[in-house]
Amino acid sequence: MKRLFLRCIGCGAEYSGDVVIYRCPRCGDLLDVVVDVDEVFCRESLKGRVESIWRYAELLPDFGDGVVTLGEGFTPLVKCEKLARIVGVRELFLKLEGLNPTGSFKDRGMSVGVSMALRIGARSVICASTGNTSASLAAYSARAGLECIVLIPEGKVAVGKLFQARIHGAKVYQVRGNFDEALSIAIERSSETGAYLLNSVNPWRIEGQKTVSFEVWEQLGRTDINVVVPVGNSGNISAICKGFKELEMYGVIDDVPRLIGVQASGAAPIAEMVRSGASSIRFWDSPETIATAIRIGKPVNWKKGIRAIRESGGTAVSVSDEEILEALRLLATVEGVACELAGASTIAGLRRLVDEGVIGGDETAVCILTGNVLKDPSEQLVAWNVPTVIEAEGVKSI
Ligand SMILES: Cc1ncc(COP(=O)(O)O)c(C=O)c1O
Ligand SMILES: [Zn+2]
Repeated sequence: MKRLFLRCIGCGAEYSGDVVIYRCPRCGDLLDVVVDVDEVFCRESLKGRVESIWRYAELLPDFGDGVVTLGEGFTPLVKCEKLARIVGVRELFLKLEGLNPTGSFKDRGMSVGVSMALRIGARSVICASTGNTSASLAAYSARAGLECIVLIPEGKVAVGKLFQARIHGAKVYQVRGNFDEALSIAIERSSETGAYLLNSVNPWRIEGQKTVSFEVWEQLGRTDINVVVPVGNSGNISAICKGFKELEMYGVIDDVPRLIGVQASGAAPIAEMVRSGASSIRFWDSPETIATAIRIGKPVNWKKGIRAIRESGGTAVSVSDEEILEALRLLATVEGVACELAGASTIAGLRRLVDEGVIGGDETAVCILTGNVLKDPSEQLVAWNVPTVIEAEGVKSI
């Protein structure tokens, strides 16, 4: 027996998985997908399965032939001994989510989310985005044959991401405002037109994203670790926590890792709330950071994000743009691994927490590098390494 249904995180009301709702009709709070199954995978039963998120089918919805997939998931987990020494932890692993089909972790969520859009008979899909969501949705909806509408903050999206949304044929609207304002428009247009909303407030998207936790468990073989995640809307950190909690619930693991959220100091409402111990969030009106993927002041999933951090015994931290740039440079030059600035913030955050003594020198950390470095090939990131121009002839030394 396998049953997936929706439960409100506020009032606990339950709804069938077949109804199209993004929030609780009774109290307006966020919805969780609850997975109730008799049997789940184990290390042995996973052998020989497809190398994508769909290898974990027991804990995902069934779409049969209607599944929309580009082979997302199953990304490398790379051990970094040099970086571990520099940062000051015993072991450090990087999860290369930038190697997903459109270059970010969003693909995990879109495979499930766009499959769901097809199942409910949607003809169009919509999202607001700091870039990666739009790139991913544009690709998956193209594959599914659905119309795609994306809203992005004008001038605040990395060039590669906007390029991706356009090349896959999405209808792109550049909003004269920030992400939070773009999201309000997307939610309103979705309810007016019936376009299926694929922001992370949609609980089915999170279902796809939780699979990164299954992979960390499968690849590393243990979960007494710190998982460090860049946080914007906090959909992903809550998805990761959900994945580990399901493994714990079904007896696959004994411990849920500590989840560590990292934000940019110019856009840090979640870190502020965790650090202050407050019981509700203070939204930021004008978020600003060079890491545009996490330039979010009103995180729509804040309740789920805070729950993930607190229930896992984790914490949150904010780091400056300079620390993020320095972390990217370090990663790229010492380990040969580069990623988006948002992903690099995890290294900066980890360093900070080790310095503060919150994470001990004998601990293990897995940093989730959420997006591909080529999405944002801007000069600022490589300003420290200026190419030398030389004549084509008569070169004596290099
Ligand atoms: C590269 C990257 N990292 C992190 C995030 C933050 O994820 P979330 O909004 O689920 O917290 C995003 C969101 O757009 C992203 O694109
Ligand atoms: Zn409710």
